[in-house]
Amino acid sequence: MSTVPTVPLNDGNAIPQLGFGVFQIPPAQTAEAVGEALRVGYRHIDTAEMYRNEQGVGEGIRASGLDRSKVFITSKLNNGYHEPDDARRAFDETLRQLGTDYVDLFLIHWPLPTLYDGDFVSTWKALEEFKQDGRARSIGVSNFQVDHLERLAHETDTVPAVNQIELHPYFLNQEVRAYGEEHGIATEAWSPIAQGEVLDDPTVTEIAEKTERSTAQVVLRWHLQRGSIVFPKSVTPERIKENFELFDFELSDDDVGRIEGLDRGEEGRIGPNPDRFAHVPA
Ligand SMILES: NC(=O)c1ccc[n+]([C@@H]2O[C@H](COP(=O)([O-])OP(=O)(O)OC[C@H]3O[C@@H](n4cnc5c(N)ncnc54)[C@H](OP(=O)(O)O)[C@@H]3O)[C@@H](O)[C@H]2O)c1
Repeated sequence: MSTVPTVPLNDGNAIPQLGFGVFQIPPAQTAEAVGEALRVGYRHIDTAEMYRNEQGVGEGIRASGLDRSKVFITSKLNNGYHEPDDARRAFDETLRQLGTDYVDLFLIHWPLPTLYDGDFVSTWKALEEFKQDGRARSIGVSNFQVDHLERLAHETDTVPAVNQIELHPYFLNQEVRAYGEEHGIATEAWSPIAQGEVLDDPTVTEIAEKTERSTAQVVLRWHLQRGSIVFPKSVTPERIKENFELFDFELSDDDVGRIEGLDRGEEGRIGPNPDRFAHVPA
């Protein structure tokens, strides 16, 4: 039985608020890590074409014996495939790699405003097709800034179900998150523990000591109480378990506010700036 709440999406679907991320898990270790996560109780896996481990995700789910319908799978379009025909082929390949006939959520991984003549609109229209034909139950974006979201709102018929953005105590990404809240776009927080960088923070450490939890649990709980969807990554079984144990304690409003106070604005980013990011994997 899962203790994880779901977040309603603007298309009528719902997503488990806590999942398991597989960025930087080597393909050969992915099935094992996903299997461990599913044993612990996670029912939401976040992968991407760029991670090269969709096949391992599919294998891990099949080996668990769980019915496909019990696991929420997200994948993302790689940066080399924004042209609609390329996006269609890449999406077919994603389903083949995962060994499934649908994904629960498919995202444009990066807006790439300096590539493809800045045209992520035709890419988004290709994703609308995947939603219409039922092979993507929900569609969304990742790393979209407010002006990118505004463009989709003006030029297309579908509001993204989610925007998956960098968000952690050192980088609240407040403007993008607020836009999502106002427009019914759920916020997914990537690198929720800043790849470990926030775990030695004195404020977080103090709250962890007070609540008798680990610093990772405090930060992940903070995300949940603020309404974000998270999917911490780990290949370490004890941490996979620890990161799932978030539902038997609560942070005070004061502590939530103190962690928000750690925001460093743009200085706090650990990943690329989406306005400039233009990497296309070979
Ligand atoms: N859309 C995007 O552009 C984008 C970008 C980045 C990430 N993401 C997604 O977000 C997910 C999470 O982000 P992330 O992988 O970058 O970083 P993260 O989840 O913030 O941190 C992962 C790192 O923290 C360590 N860790 C995990 N749990 C821990 C714990 N309880 N105590 C101490 N250390 C712990 C892991 O080590 P071990 O593995 O060695 O245990 C790993 O080095 C990704 O897997 C991916 O699904 C999306």
